[in-house]
Amino acid sequence: MKLSKKLAATIVSGVFLAVLASLLIFIIFNYIWIRILAPPIIIGITSFVLWKIIANLTVSKIIYFDDMTQKIASGNLGTNIEVKGSDELSILGSNINALVKNLASAYQSMANSLGSEIKKGRELSQTLKQIEREKARLETLLSSINDGVIGVDRSGKIMLFNMAASKLTGFSSFEAIGASYKSVLRFFHEKDNSPAPDFIWEALSGGSVKRNDQLVMLPKSNQAIPVSQSIGVITDQLGNILGGVVVVRDVTYQRQLDKMKDEFVSVASHELRTPMTAIKGLLSMIFEGDFGQINNDLKDPLKDVATSTERLIELVNDMLDVSRIESGRLKFTITEAPLIEVIREVTSLLEPLANEKSIRLGSDYRGQAIIKADINKVKEILNNLVGNALKFTDTGSITISAELNNNLIYVSVVDTGLGISPEDQKKLFSKFSQISTQELGRPKGTGLGLYISREFARKMGGDLWIAKSQLGQGSTFTFSVPLVPVGNSTHL
Ligand SMILES: Nc1ncnc2c1ncn2[C@@H]1O[C@H](COP(=O)(O)OP(=O)(O)OP(=O)(O)O)[C@@H](O)[C@H]1O
Ligand SMILES: [Mg+2]
Repeated sequence: MKLSKKLAATIVSGVFLAVLASLLIFIIFNYIWIRILAPPIIIGITSFVLWKIIANLTVSKIIYFDDMTQKIASGNLGTNIEVKGSDELSILGSNINALVKNLASAYQSMANSLGSEIKKGRELSQTLKQIEREKARLETLLSSINDGVIGVDRSGKIMLFNMAASKLTGFSSFEAIGASYKSVLRFFHEKDNSPAPDFIWEALSGGSVKRNDQLVMLPKSNQAIPVSQSIGVITDQLGNILGGVVVVRDVTYQRQLDKMKDEFVSVASHELRTPMTAIKGLLSMIFEGDFGQINNDLKDPLKDVATSTERLIELVNDMLDVSRIESGRLKFTITEAPLIEVIREVTSLLEPLANEKSIRLGSDYRGQAIIKADINKVKEILNNLVGNALKFTDTGSITISAELNNNLIYVSVVDTGLGISPEDQKKLFSKFSQISTQELGRPKGTGLGLYISREFARKMGGDLWIAKSQLGQGSTFTFSVPLVPVGNSTHL
């Protein structure tokens, strides 16, 4: 029942009972003092009872509510107002309970999300600290590297520039970072000072990534520094290029050492050649009997001396060639000669050796091509190729062939010898490279022949390469030489 109705009913029934009691007393008792005193006493008692009932119904509840709401206000959101009946105060109590419950759950979820935010914040600050530490470590590492390390983005803008890069280029990291690498890194070929290709851009645009030696770098001071350069590209997980790292190394000291080594080899070889030639001459005089009859016991040892002397002279000559190639002092005397003559001369020189091993040595070239080259060097190339074929062929044949290709003629030496594995083929053109498994019982070489021959061919405008080789089947080595232009005197 509603509170107002309850109060009205209580008051009406109280007043009714008071009037009824007064009437009864008036009827029952004849004494005037009783009749006068009774009504006020009944009214007083009724009022007291009514006050008690009304107080019980309203004021005590309000005081209880006041207590409870003060608890809630002090932050005790677990407080629950006890609700009896269905009057307005009870409804108010239920509403307050619902309000407090909602408030408590909102507070709880707010506290939860605040908690996770705080956790995230802590994790973030830890990650940031870690990144800072890593960055500091990387910077220390980069600054302690003696090579210039330059990081560029996809567009070629410098993002990273270590201390060595500053020293090399003369640009401070403050000047370099944000600038295009083209304004800071200028490379030229060491040989002729012509501008080097833009290797960095080639790498950034997805082209080849390689190490480039034999370069010079022009720093801010314009004082050229010999350098080697290598580029690495940075890609994302999908393989898209994000940028690159250029490493530049100052090779001044290395170049000085190389020069000293070349000079030493050159001088030593030159100085060795004279006494070696004298020994060779004396030996041939001994064999010709200029110093009298040779004792039979001495013949074999003297032959060994002669062979070793030949090898030493070959080695000294090879070393001189290498030192000339590397110092750029190699001289070429370009003349014209029919290729067939060159082939004939080399085959007739090596024929006795081929006959000794019962190997057919010949040429199937019948053309009349005129080559335009240093003829002695072409002979040296062919001599080395046929010599190698003879060394590494035990049965079968060695055939020289040739075919025209634009302004060059390709000369091939085909043998049916040991063959070379693909792995070993990659090493053959390095200096002193020999395949150890082939050496057993074969005349010793220096491992310089192919290197020298290829350099000769390249410097004359051609090249030299392994056209084909298979283990156990044989090899084909091919070199190319320029021809006298067609219309002049070239015929095939
Ligand atoms: N035709 C061939 N068949 C098999 N192996 C070969 C052939 N030609 C060259 N090689 C291998 O390549 C190596 C290098 O040849 P290269 O001509 O450079 O040196 P070399 O003949 O050993 O010495 P040099 O020519 O300086 O006297 C040889 O030692 C050999 O192992
Ligand atoms: Mg050789």
